[in-house]
Amino acid sequence: MTAPARTGRLVVLEGIDGAGTTTQGQRLETTLTARGRDVHLTREPTTGPIGRLLREYLAGRHHPSDATTLALLFAADRADHLAREIEPALARGALVITDRYYHSSLAYQGTGEDRDFIRTINRRARRPDLTLFLEVPVEIAAARRAADARPDELFDHLETQRAIAIGYRAALAALASEEQIVHLDGTQSLDQVADAILSRVLSL
Ligand code: TYD
Repeated sequence: MTAPARTGRLVVLEGIDGAGTTTQGQRLETTLTARGRDVHLTREPTTGPIGRLLREYLAGRHHPSDATTLALLFAADRADHLAREIEPALARGALVITDRYYHSSLAYQGTGEDRDFIRTINRRARRPDLTLFLEVPVEIAAARRAADARPDELFDHLETQRAIAIGYRAALAALASEEQIVHLDGTQSLDQVADAILSRVLSL
């Protein structure tokens, strides 16, 4: 008799730039790995060929950075990410944590492109089991980015971040009846946010 297929869980971390998704993704991976879980931490844009091209756009190396082009590239990067990394990891039973997913496309590209179009080109992307949105005011997130001395990226302007925050609110509200999305206070200490994330993930 063949063993039943194992399926892992897909957890998404989302938030504006400086919300802490990268730090918290790493913390979660460390904690769960120490507890003996099979964890696969990944991110979008990916480290693959389309993700590398996207990082060039984000660094301002290609002009103009047209919203439709970016929406299509992010969707293509995601399809590649699913095929190359996410689906194989889920198939072996891993907990996959991705730092950003299609919610980012809805929020970021949604500032310049029709959100229905973005949903359409992301329709084949697997639904996450849980999405954690780290809620941080744009001013606090901007101060964190400045403290980290991160190089400026395409979407870093404060007004752009405000529009993205509004985009997240609308996009996540529209998805609320279709998938599990939890809003967490990302202004708390690193440990408090990490604990809140961990308890949500463990309850999956
Ligand atoms: P980020 O996650 O902050 O990574 P890094 O630390 O390397 O800068 O940057 C990714 C940027 O890409 C961020 O500004 C959000 C943006 N983005 C989109 O605009 N659309 C998307 O679909 C995704 C996944 C990211």
